[in-house]
Amino acid sequence: MAASSFSRLVTLVVLLCGSALGAYGAACALEEREHVPFRKRYSASAPYFVEYFDKGTSGVTGAPPVADVSGYNVFIIAFLLTEGAWDNAQGWASLTAAERNSTKADYNNAGIALMVSVFGSTDTPTSSNADPTNTANTMAAWVQQYGLDGVDVDYEDFDAFNAGTAEAWLITFTTQLRKQLPASEYIITHAPVAPWFASNLWKNGGYLKVNTEVGDLIDWYNVQFYNQGTSEYTTCDGLLTNSSSTWPDSALFQIISSGVAQEKLVIGKPGTSGDANNGYMSTSTLATCVEQAKGKGWDAGVMVWEYPDAGSSWITAVRADAWPVSS
Ligand SMILES: *[C@@H]1O[C@H](CO)[C@@H](O)[C@H](O)[C@H]1NC(C)=O
Ligand SMILES: *[C@@H]1O[C@H](CO)[C@@H](O)[C@H](O)[C@H]1NC(C)=O
Repeated sequence: MAASSFSRLVTLVVLLCGSALGAYGAACALEEREHVPFRKRYSASAPYFVEYFDKGTSGVTGAPPVADVSGYNVFIIAFLLTEGAWDNAQGWASLTAAERNSTKADYNNAGIALMVSVFGSTDTPTSSNADPTNTANTMAAWVQQYGLDGVDVDYEDFDAFNAGTAEAWLITFTTQLRKQLPASEYIITHAPVAPWFASNLWKNGGYLKVNTEVGDLIDWYNVQFYNQGTSEYTTCDGLLTNSSSTWPDSALFQIISSGVAQEKLVIGKPGTSGDANNGYMSTSTLATCVEQAKGKGWDAGVMVWEYPDAGSSWITAVRADAWPVSS
């Protein structure tokens, strides 16, 4: 459904461009971008500016008015669990199809992709013996039924990760998810905690193994550089160049040195000190770190947990030194 309406639109645009070759080339390219409302990739490449939304918020069902999230280009509704949609994912499903269409169109017209996050901190799919293939099929069908641009895999089954059973589960799950949600149409991201990229801590390879096996199926990682200890990832040095001895080799550029593409490593932070147990940085400090990282060739972007505590003012402040939001 979405795919066929998209190809009709593209055909139209291509024909228009074909009859206006030459002088109007640039205008044609612009037109084409504006006619991609039901396809993925509103920002075809990094930097991504990503905001999550799990918190119950009075007056908001599913997703807030798009004007409240300007400065972002990806908005992620949470969570879809193995047992079904919860919180704002449930809210999104409770809207009428026309309401979802209209909100989705507002977001896409503003250049913002609308996704759903699956699992989160309360779901433990591997430990609970959920079948990875069936789970991927069910979740992909939900994304298609409710008309979103993709899935964020916020897998937080710490017991399985410590036991070394998470890697195989995630690899099977991601492979099947991508089979159902092809890269030409849907975004797939993962949201690991930063220590899971450490090179020698995880007996079956941790997220470096996941990245080696199925990284080409994952558009980018919303890396959680928080909730890992009170002094973890709280300075530019600890965040970017040298993490602590507790979680070695898991600062941004250390993960890049371990072989993960720089443009896939989005820096994730809490919006306020109340949005996480620890790992908070002020927007001005984070803006400085982001500018430093950009200066060293990184351009993946920034993720925040969560709306409404962080909104446009948060991302405007964090982008200020590297990618200022144009007014
Ligand atoms: C929503 O949009 C899709 C894709 O354009 C369309 O096929 C469908 O009929 C729309 N549904 C409603 C209820 O507007
Ligand atoms: C990196 O951090 C470790 C652990 O805190 C420390 O022992 C080491 O000296 C640091 N290396 C550099 C180059 O700063």
